[in-house]
Amino acid sequence: VVGGGLVGGGVLANTAINDDLDDISYAVKRRFYKAAKKDAPKKKVVVLGSGWGALSFARKLDADEYHVTVVSPRPFFFYTPLLVGSTTGVVSPGAIIEPIRDTAPGCEFLRTECKDVDLENRKVICDGAVTLDYDHLLIAVGAQPNTFGIPGVEKYGKFLKEIEHGRHVRKEMLDIIDKADLALAAGDLEKTKQLLNFVVVGGGPTGVEFCGELSDFIKQDLAKRHPKIAEYMKVTLVEALPGLLTMFHKTVGGYVQEHLANQGVDIKLSAMVKEVDEKHVSLKVKDGSIQKMDYGLLVWVAGVGMRPFTRSMCEKIGKENGQTDRRGLLVDECLRVKGTRPGEVFAIGDCAVSGKPPTAQVAYQQGKYLGRLFRLGQQHLIPDPEAPKFEYNHQGTMAYIGQGEAATELNPNGLIKLGRSSVTDHFWWRSLYGECDQLRIMGPMGFAIWRSVYFSKLVSVRNRWSVASDWMRTSFFGRPACSSA
Ligand code: FAD
Ligand code: NAI
Repeated sequence: VVGGGLVGGGVLANTAINDDLDDISYAVKRRFYKAAKKDAPKKKVVVLGSGWGALSFARKLDADEYHVTVVSPRPFFFYTPLLVGSTTGVVSPGAIIEPIRDTAPGCEFLRTECKDVDLENRKVICDGAVTLDYDHLLIAVGAQPNTFGIPGVEKYGKFLKEIEHGRHVRKEMLDIIDKADLALAAGDLEKTKQLLNFVVVGGGPTGVEFCGELSDFIKQDLAKRHPKIAEYMKVTLVEALPGLLTMFHKTVGGYVQEHLANQGVDIKLSAMVKEVDEKHVSLKVKDGSIQKMDYGLLVWVAGVGMRPFTRSMCEKIGKENGQTDRRGLLVDECLRVKGTRPGEVFAIGDCAVSGKPPTAQVAYQQGKYLGRLFRLGQQHLIPDPEAPKFEYNHQGTMAYIGQGEAATELNPNGLIKLGRSSVTDHFWWRSLYGECDQLRIMGPMGFAIWRSVYFSKLVSVRNRWSVASDWMRTSFFGRPACSSA
């Protein structure tokens, strides 16, 4: 087996490295590499970021071979798929974060922001006058909410990308409800209605999930505690494209649209926000006219864009060296940043342009792949035709849509690859599903899948414990009603 594994190693490792389970060729290659490296000095690896990509990479590296320093202003990993639930209190923010020192215990962690990189001398320059030397640098700094330069959005819009955004939206929402209550008591119906107009911009998964959670909150909690306020609550979802959830099949978008409309969400399609002021949102609608809407809360979830740090790295490397994309750092098929010295700088996740969407699923798989590439040896980090390339295994997409329903689109082939058995793949699975490449499951069954998958992917036992008890607390006692809870 060992002989066979080595002979075919190059070819086999190509698939093994992208899969979830170790296989013999990978294990053999790794063992040989580790034995050869036994007394070699450790290489210094600096990882920028503490999100999906950075964590999956850092957890794969062997502390006997690499000295890993994780640098990030955020001292914890946070589980983005449940962020929207934290705005209404279904889960508490503390339940979906995990300190990076606990999740990647073999690494050093520095809580600071990287400001610049000296590519020539291999140095990372951070806030707080800290400079770190590196042999290899991984850039996994993610992305930030995109305002597209639309006037007023930065000032008046509330984003939903980081954990503190969730806290902020929650506090703002509950404060507005109290203010509206006061306005109603004072007999000012116009002000009450204006305050209770919640406008959500962006019909992608974040916008749809937020509308779903919000209507649950209105129907299941607000209607009991503040029946008069619930009566005047209005949620409007604004989307520039003619449909919702465009990354799903269009039948899913249609189903979700009807479901949200039945929950009382006013959906405005083909309507693009052009300007925002303190009280109004201006929309350009289908016929080209401009409509003005009042709002009390404006949640801006219209997609993500490059961080200033990523932009400065693109500019530093330069268009002449291949950094020509306006969305992030262009990488090759082994996730090496184009235009940098071979094998030194890598980028993954939302800050990298690799032809894959900016999702946690992609960032996580890229981090894992790169970690395994590092474990296989230095020769694979430089451009090498033998180096296994990153292969993305799309397992599906899901979104919670409210009232105990979710839209799920599963990729049977991706899932079977995850469980990895080429025998089952070719025999029973394909005979059942033929060439079916998407399985769409909506409604309560979709919700059961959504919950089980996201629960199982939580990164620690503590997170699972906390999320499970929060979900139970919500189903027994409802959502906590005050903003400091
Ligand atoms: P991030 O996870 O954003 O991490 C970036 C890290 O870099 C952070 O720790 C940040 O503090 C740090 N950083 C920033 N600047 C610097 C700097 N200068 N120096 C050092 N560190 C820095 N995707 C899915 O696949 N499924 C989902 O269900 C899903 N749900 C989502 C729900 C919401 C509400 C949101 C907002 C996103 C969701 N996504 C989902 C997308 C997913 O969260 C992102 O694609 C993913 O977080 C990208 O991972 P990343 O490692 O590239 O960046
Ligand atoms: P998105 O990019 O998926 O959707 C944003 C939407 O806003 C787009 O449909 C766009 O047409 C619309 N928009 C942009 N500008 C607008 C304007 N001026 N007026 C009106 N509409 C406008 O953004 P989202 O939902 O924030 O997601 C960001 C990333 O995170 C995506 O890659 C997404 O796939 C991922 N994500 C995945 C989730 C999941 O898999 N369940 C959940 C949440 C996010």
